[in-house]
Amino acid sequence: AQDKRESLYVFNQWASKYFKQTLWETELGQSIGLSYFHERGYRDDIIKKFDLGYSPEAWTSLVDEAAKEGYAKEYLTELGLAVERDDKSLYDRFRGRVIFPIHNLTGRVIGFGGRTLKKDKTVPKYVNSPESEIYHKSNVLYGLHLAKKAILEHDVCFLVEGYADVLSCHQAGVEQVVSSSGTSLTTGQIKLISRYTKQVVILYDGDEAGIKASLRGTDMLLEEGLNVKVLLFPDGNDPDSYIQKYGASEFRAYVEKNQEDFVFYKTNILLRDAKDDPIKRAEVIREVVESIALIPDEIKVSVYIRQCSTLLDIEERVLLSELNKIRLGKA
Ligand code: UTP
Ligand code: MN
Ligand code: MN
Ligand code: MN
Ligand code: MN
Repeated sequence: AQDKRESLYVFNQWASKYFKQTLWETELGQSIGLSYFHERGYRDDIIKKFDLGYSPEAWTSLVDEAAKEGYAKEYLTELGLAVERDDKSLYDRFRGRVIFPIHNLTGRVIGFGGRTLKKDKTVPKYVNSPESEIYHKSNVLYGLHLAKKAILEHDVCFLVEGYADVLSCHQAGVEQVVSSSGTSLTTGQIKLISRYTKQVVILYDGDEAGIKASLRGTDMLLEEGLNVKVLLFPDGNDPDSYIQKYGASEFRAYVEKNQEDFVFYKTNILLRDAKDDPIKRAEVIREVVESIALIPDEIKVSVYIRQCSTLLDIEERVLLSELNKIRLGKA
């Protein structure tokens, strides 16, 4: 079984190299894939650092190349690089897409994400490797192998939504960054982060989906005992689009200045929707206290209750009784 896992790693490494060579050394790769990355503003050193690649718009380019090398079909299907038809013939999963290899902690390739170059909204924007013996999405954070050192150094981890956000952050000189790659954050991913730091800043997209995901993510992080700050980008931007629009130093300044402790963030987001409606405001209080109730450390809980009391102009005693009610309900 160990031998087989090793073979899967080796095969993925080979496929990653093939995509990379296709990007850098073929005419189509350069004129389509590389131009795409350049148009998005990515520098060559970043494209190389992340081992980005290109898969041509053809049905069997990787499949044919693997056959030439004498690789067993099973590797292609097992790793999801190819899909099997009813007649047992194979075709490439990633076609006409730029490729983002996904690495484990030690830097070995465990899967791939492929982005379409089409503006057409009917094709999925990203196609990803399916789960395999060496790829378990829920225990992977994109970019962690390149972020570990910076996370330890800065004692903080920035959490973003997407592949492109991780790339742009690195390009802007911010390397303590990982992405949960579109899936909602899992306990496994949080445990990975907490090996390196207990401080997380959520930098999700500034759209409704991003805000929802940030609130969900906050609760999960708090429950695992991490300290959470959140930052919202203006006008629906994500970190990548913000960096490409405003530049690296403005991004770093924005992040420095606008991170908010989760209590302030959540309260403000919810109050914005509640406006002056007293019933809705009461609901906001309850929801914020629900998040605080998840924190395992009693001292932090009392600090947050006090902050919340000031912020919402409600007596601490009222918040504490709400906290106890929530805890009893959970018990
Ligand atoms: P987004 O829709 O925010 O995409 O999804 P993005 O990262 O900003 O992509 P660009 O900038 O247009 O290239 C965030 C993440 O969700 C996953 C990807 O990991 C993506 O980076 N996702 C999104 C998918 O897996 N499939 C999709 O169809 C869309
Ligand atoms: Mn640094
Ligand atoms: Mn998004
Ligand atoms: Mn995005
Ligand atoms: Mn984006």
